[in-house]
Amino acid sequence: MTVCEYRPGLEGIPATQSSISYVDGQQGVLEYRGIGIEQLAEKSTFLETAYLLIWGGLPTPQELEGFEYEIRYHRRLKYRIRDMMKCFPESGHPMDALQACAAALGLFYSKRALDDPAYIQDAVVRLLAKIPTMVAAFQLMRKGNDPVQPRDDLSYAANFLYMLNEREPDPLAARIFDICLTLHAEHTINASTFSAMVTASTLTDPYAVVASAVGTLAGPLHGGANEEVIFMLQQIGSVEKVRPFVEDCVARKSRIMGFGHRVYKVKDPRATILQKLAEQLFEKFGQDEYYEIALELEQAVSEKLGHKGVFPNVDFYSGLVYRKLGIPVDLFTPVFAIARAAGWLAHWKEQLGENRIFRPTQIYTGPRNQSYVTLSQRPQIWDKNGQSPQPLTP
Ligand code: SDX
Repeated sequence: MTVCEYRPGLEGIPATQSSISYVDGQQGVLEYRGIGIEQLAEKSTFLETAYLLIWGGLPTPQELEGFEYEIRYHRRLKYRIRDMMKCFPESGHPMDALQACAAALGLFYSKRALDDPAYIQDAVVRLLAKIPTMVAAFQLMRKGNDPVQPRDDLSYAANFLYMLNEREPDPLAARIFDICLTLHAEHTINASTFSAMVTASTLTDPYAVVASAVGTLAGPLHGGANEEVIFMLQQIGSVEKVRPFVEDCVARKSRIMGFGHRVYKVKDPRATILQKLAEQLFEKFGQDEYYEIALELEQAVSEKLGHKGVFPNVDFYSGLVYRKLGIPVDLFTPVFAIARAAGWLAHWKEQLGENRIFRPTQIYTGPRNQSYVTLSQRPQIWDKNGQSPQPLTP
């Protein structure tokens, strides 16, 4: 077996073979099952796209109708999950709440039958159907209100905005939100998808797979960046302060949220579409105070860091869209999870098709053949700085 060189973060190292999506980071190309993201954003819906990703082809009208019916039928939560959510602290982050609920779903469907297509289908439908309900329920409950029940007469996107804001959304808002879900559904072997695959490779249940992925997506270097972008724009505060902010980041080599990508070395094609969606919303519902700052920031960062391939990624403009849709900032990443559940489940299903448990190797850098030193023989000082250990406060 040849051992390849060590690449931090597995950069450029193939972890699998997959036919689900394709990215060309130099050309800014993203395709789901070979179909360009621009076409899917314009012509498809999130549920149809989820079907394409998971089952490998665009559904027939009958297949799509059946899939949408199944999703509507399974949107409601078990009352025990809702009761569990009542014990969550209001100050908790919604991604932690979602991770807990996703794992808890496994308690109700604990019979694992990974070789049964019906089990796979049921798990896919339940997770895609219930994750939006979980996110919206936590939002209402942390405000002290009862969650509202899903409405079968609303589309997937409209129903989420209804459950979140307790009123039917404007049709344009619902359509734009649905396109956002399509844009965020899948992106080859990103960190949270890789996390899902590693978990899936042990043949555990799909609810644990999604819970692993949710925990991974939450980090600010991954899905959590969309929330951080808004905080950054608020911190900058004005167009005039953009360039000093960028200069300071470059001087401190600190990461500018919403920019850069392991694969894209040009502007993320999803950012381009999201920017247009934001402008559509501004035209109908009024400008966002941070948009001009964002435009100036994109210009300044491209000038200063474009030579390193640092351009806006998917998280840079998405938050400005979500703000206009009335989505609270700390729900931006759970919204990302609602969409990415389609990609995680597609890779879960693909992984099961030709599974081999992930177990990479390492380059050992520690000492060898050491002897045990009894407690009485150990030096009194705690570390090389000679600091004695402080007693742990009870
Ligand atoms: C997502 O993988 C996916 O597909 C993810 C995602 C998906 O759909 O699943 O696209 C979603 O997670 C998008 C990324 C969201 N994260 C952020 O916006 C956080 C800020 N971005 C960076 O932390 C960074 O760009 C990463 C983490 C996204 C990528 O980091 P890499 O690939 O490890 O980049 P790198 O550290 O090798 O950077 C290369 C150079 C470095 O400069 P040098 O050390 O060579 O001089 O570019 C610089 C970096 O300092 N750089 C940045 C930067 N990103 C890279 N400099 C300032 N700000 C940034 N954001």
